[in-house]
This record gives sequence, C-alpha cells and structure tokens, in this order.
Amino acid sequence: MRNPFVVGREIKYGEPFCDRASEIKWLIDRAKSSESVCLVSLRRYGKTSLLNQVMGKLNEEGWVTLKIDLMNVHSIEDFCFFIGQEIRKFQSIKNKIFSAIKHIKPSITIGVDPLTSLPSFGVGLNSSVSKKEAILREILNTCLKLPKLLSKPVLLVFDELQQVRKIAPKGEIEAVMRAVFEKRDYDFVPFYLGSRRSILKFMFQKESEPFFKSATVREIKELPRESYIEFVQNEFKKSLSIVSSEEILHTTWKLFQGHPYAVAKVANRLWFCYLENLPKNKKEEEEIWLEIITEIIKEEATFYEAVNKNIFPYVMIVFRKIAEEGVVEKPYKEDFLKKIGMTAARVQKALGTLKKEDKIEHDKEGIHVLDPLERLWLLTSRMDEEQIKTELTKMLKEN
Ligand SMILES: Nc1ncnc2c1ncn2[C@@H]1O[C@H](COP(=O)(O)OP(=O)(O)OP(=O)(O)O)[C@@H](O)[C@H]1O
Ligand SMILES: [Mg+2]
Repeated sequence: MRNPFVVGREIKYGEPFCDRASEIKWLIDRAKSSESVCLVSLRRYGKTSLLNQVMGKLNEEGWVTLKIDLMNVHSIEDFCFFIGQEIRKFQSIKNKIFSAIKHIKPSITIGVDPLTSLPSFGVGLNSSVSKKEAILREILNTCLKLPKLLSKPVLLVFDELQQVRKIAPKGEIEAVMRAVFEKRDYDFVPFYLGSRRSILKFMFQKESEPFFKSATVREIKELPRESYIEFVQNEFKKSLSIVSSEEILHTTWKLFQGHPYAVAKVANRLWFCYLENLPKNKKEEEEIWLEIITEIIKEEATFYEAVNKNIFPYVMIVFRKIAEEGVVEKPYKEDFLKKIGMTAARVQKALGTLKKEDKIEHDKEGIHVLDPLERLWLLTSRMDEEQIKTELTKMLKEN
C-alpha cells in the first residue's frame, strides 16, 4: 500500500494534497485573466506542489503548461538550454520552432550532446554576453509564439526565480525577460515561484528594477490547522480504515505552526507506524508520536546546522534569543541588550544579516523567527533527547 503523505519531493497533480483551495482558485483566475504572479514562501512550504495542482487543472481545461526549474541553472547557457528542452516536448511544432531560431546560428546549436547523448540546445560557450542575451531573447520570443503555434493558452512557470540574480546580479536576465514578456498576448502568462523573499520583493517592488510591478507578489503561508487535521484523518480513514487522534494532530500542528513539510512528514511517519502496528490504546499512540517527533527534530537539526554554518556566532546568539523570546518588540532596549551582552550597534548588525538571509521578520508586534521549524531547532538544539520528550509530553497534555 502506498503512503498517501508525500515527503521529500514535490506533490504531483492527482496525489493527495491538503487544502490550498483558495490559493488554487486565485492562481487559476490570475492565469485566465493573463495576470502574472510571483508566489513566495519559505522553503518547503509547498509552492511547487501547489503550482503542480494549478498546472494539472489548467491542462485539463486545454492549457499548455511549462515549468523551468532554475535551481540547476547556473548560466545564461543553462537557462537557454532548459527552456529549449521544454519547448522540444512539442514534437508537432518542432520544425516551426527550429526555423524560428535557426537564423541565430552559429552561436546556437541544436543537436545531441556527444558526452551525455542528451539533446542539446546550447549557446556557444564563446559567445559574448550580449550575444547570449540576444539568444535568450530569441528563445523567449519563441515561447511567446507557442499559443499561436499550438492554438492553446500557455502558462510558463519559472521556479526558484531568485536564481537569476545569482547568474546576473545586476538584473540583466530579468531585463531581457521583461522586454520580451511585455509584448506578450493575452494567451501567454508567465508565473514565478521563489523562496528568497527579500530578493524577490526587491525584484518586483523596487522601482529601478526591471521586474518592477510586472507580477503580483503573493505569499504562501502555513497549512490551516483544521484543513490539516481533516486531510490527515481522511487519508487515514481511506487507506487504513482508522481514525487518528485529533489531539495528536492538533499538537503536531501547534508544535510546527502548520509548517507544511514538517506536518506532512509527521503524518507520513505515523502512517507507516500504524501500517505495521496499530496502536492498541491512547498511551501507545502517544509513545509512537513522541518517538516520531524526536526523530524528526534530530533529522532537521542536521539540516539547519548545515544551513547556518556560515552565520557568525554573535549573529546566532541574537537569532537564538529571538527564538527564545518568541517576539522581540524593542531589540535596542537596555533589557534585551543586557540579556545578550551586546551593544546596540552589534545587535543592529546582527539583525541586518538575519533579515538579509530571510531568517527573521519585523511586523507590527516586533521581530520574530520566520521559519517555525528553524525556531524549534533553535529551541531544542541544546536539549538532550529526554528533555525534548518531557517538553513534548507537557505540550500534549496541555491540549
Ligand atoms: N498542500 C499540501 N498537502 C500536503 N503536503 C504538503 C502540501 N504542501 C506542502 N506539503 C509538503 O511539503 C513538502 C514540500 O513541498 P514543495 O517541494 O512543493 O515545497 P516548495 O515550497 O516548493 O519547497 P522549495 O522551496 O524547497 O522548493 C512536500 O513534499 C509535502 O511533504
Ligand atoms: Mg519548490
């Protein structure tokens, strides 16, 4: 039997997916009204999975949907290659597309890579930067022709958009994209996804940037508590014919503050344990849960240790303190400075780094840690397993 809770990869269309109904509808509506959107969220909040649902539904309505994952794109050449590969899927119009881009030879090559035997759609490595940009423009222009060539509306999704800033820090790639997409017709819609909110907001909300106001930025938040509980209970009922404890699911949600990846991982592990051995009573159920949560906390510690390994120790001290306090209203006030033993100038520098790295947020209430899973790591990283279990049991009893 297949575990209905997907973890470790994006959720495909048709696989069990929790809620996000209003986001799906909103995104479909935006696509249909030809409005570009940039979806932003923390890592592992379900952006790609959400877009897969949107793309699946649009496909059923006759749309053509393409996705370019920029995670593995490290140069303009790569970018052109991946777009080319997506376009290549349309065998029926291959010739028309090739004739559209043939004239930019010899810089561009279409053929089979002799080393990998994979189809290549490469830009000559020796091309100058301006030439490479011209080729990118040409390929994007070809994308604009797709709706006419295929007689279908087209949604083109760029996942991990912040990556373009790594390749071209001054926004050169966005400038090309903007210039091309400005000329698009109603039936071609570019969507963007990304996880570096400070970079993406800068790209779309700063007047001097090429992407300024070219897409509506929307944030994806945690999974709603009720939706999560209902989703897990439904899947348990369908696959194992059991009712899982609402208390346990409620505490799971609370512990991880609805972090989609974390709460899905708990459901996935619970499902596996129950498949092998159904708990006989409440006590056994709680013991299984305790084991699973401590295991997940340990696994995530490895991830966050790696992610934070280059952050200066004094910055980590401030970060940890914010995690402990929950919300810090006035970080430059005497009592906070005393607690961490730093000057206001040093705290200011640390906060600057944490903000730049998208680790904290400053809202009406004050400063808090953005990622609830990272906060949990900060809070538990100095506890041993027994202490963690004691805290978790306390939490379960409180509910
Ligand atoms: N609506 C949902 N229903 C069930 N599980 C979900 C949902 N959204 C996210 N998840 C869980 O979160 C995981 C991460 O999802 P996904 O890869 O789509 O996130 P992402 O925001 O694209 O992450 P990244 O920024 O790392 O690319 C999924 O594998 C799944 O376990
Ligand atoms: Mg993703």
